[in-house]
Amino acid sequence: MPVNMSKRNFERRIKEHPILEFPKRKLVKFYFEGKEYYGYEDEPIACALIANGIKVFHITKEKKRKRGFFCAIGRCSSCLMKVDGKKNVMVCITRLKEGMRIERQ
Ligand code: FES
Repeated sequence: MPVNMSKRNFERRIKEHPILEFPKRKLVKFYFEGKEYYGYEDEPIACALIANGIKVFHITKEKKRKRGFFCAIGRCSSCLMKVDGKKNVMVCITRLKEGMRIERQ
């Protein structure tokens, strides 16, 4: 585990489940709002953000309401974020890759 990765964040992840298996994945570094975080390669970006304690994915323009993810299957657009400079990426269905730069939009 990287030095700056909080143990608490990893404790938020489900490690055992009666019917699901969690294959071992490569730990990768990514950036959120310019700050360094870690997640597992190919997990949904939203999972990596939540595991790192980031629950607000965007703030609505007019009413300044905080939005996290809602459907988690790419149907509601509640999770739109800017990923590697590209706007309106649904982070609930986009897989995490090494070095990705994620921002609120
Ligand atoms: S949470 Fe609904 S599209 Fe991502």
